Amino acid sequence: MEDRLKYIDLFAGAGGFSQGIKYANAEVALGVDNWGIAAKNYRNNFENIFLQENIGSVSNIVSLISDYDFDVIVGGPPCQDFSSAGKGVEGERANLTLEFSKIVSILKPKYFIMENVPNARKSNSYQKAKKNFLEGGYGVTETILDANYYGVPQRRKRLFLIGALNQPDFDISENFEMRQTIFPLTVKEYMPDISLTDYYLHPRSYERRGVFSVYEPSPTIRGVNRPKPKTYVQHIGNTNKDDEVVSLSYDLRSRIQTFPKEYHWVGNISEIEQMIGNAVPPLLAKAVVETISNHSKKEPYVGEEYEFYKFLQKQKGLTKDEYKSTIKELRKSYRYLRNKNRSTSQSQLIKSIGLENTIVNDYLEFKGN
Ligand SMILES: C[S@@+](CC[C@H](N)C(=O)[O-])C[C@H]1O[C@@H](n2cnc3c(N)ncnc32)[C@H](O)[C@@H]1O
Repeated sequence: MEDRLKYIDLFAGAGGFSQGIKYANAEVALGVDNWGIAAKNYRNNFENIFLQENIGSVSNIVSLISDYDFDVIVGGPPCQDFSSAGKGVEGERANLTLEFSKIVSILKPKYFIMENVPNARKSNSYQKAKKNFLEGGYGVTETILDANYYGVPQRRKRLFLIGALNQPDFDISENFEMRQTIFPLTVKEYMPDISLTDYYLHPRSYERRGVFSVYEPSPTIRGVNRPKPKTYVQHIGNTNKDDEVVSLSYDLRSRIQTFPKEYHWVGNISEIEQMIGNAVPPLLAKAVVETISNHSKKEPYVGEEYEFYKFLQKQKGLTKDEYKSTIKELRKSYRYLRNKNRSTSQSQLIKSIGLENTIVNDYLEFKGN
């Protein structure tokens, strides 16, 4: 257990990232957030220490954290302000990205991880923070990951900036790529016991679909959840009947975010929805934490998806590049078929791709079915 990396989770919220650290069998040394109800939820569900403090007050935070033993500092500063990124309207919350970079540069953990929405990359504060990390002695790597390929039954893209102290800039995208599942995960596959078939998820705009099937990945779980308005007009893209659908309970939304079944939420409904929507899906965080462990031990990723590549390499002589472009093609066929039929099970769908594609047959054989 000695070689487990110890993490400090800043802007920890109700603990999405902390849960991922636990799933990855690393150690959470400390969680910090200034939101009372998040503190309550975090303390209810985690054994490690949690401090309810304002991270904007850098010197205070630095002195508090200095008392702990840690290797990695992780932080997902609030991202609301980045929706207007590029228009020069970056508010106080975007500043917290800068404060995070200051804290890391002073405390100098072996690694840091900063998580945000992909759009954050275009903002001034993100670029300034990145400059701070580089000047603070970090080599960095930047990647956008879609949770849907890391065991999360939800399409959700997030940006990760990862730094390693006293190292040149590095690239661990291959480790992330090799960890990806071949096909995106659906809600039904993740939760076979779910009793719903179709549900309503309030779209950002009515130009988008609002009714979804459990036989597809869910769209991004956001911090607001609304019932279907009486005035809702069926979207042309809704292939399922949408007159009776209801929205998901927060319990189901928490499961789709891959919080454990036993996670005990407290607060009023809108607070709970907000904490769930804010979270880094724990299983995505797990993939990031495991990748850092691989990097720190200088070991390659070994796992099922990588084994499938090795299997293809042996059986078909595929190179890594050929493998990657094959996967791209398979995903395209998958999306095409899924969009045509949203009530077929994942295994049926994959089998029907397999009728025309030998690699999918190899995949099914590899998986043992
Ligand atoms: C995107 S959420 C983080 C979610 C979390 N990483 C997870 O995986 O569950 C951002 C968090 O930053 C917290 N926050 C905002 N301003 C803060 C401040 N000045 N000090 C401490 N925490 C703050 C919010 O309360 C919120 O929980």
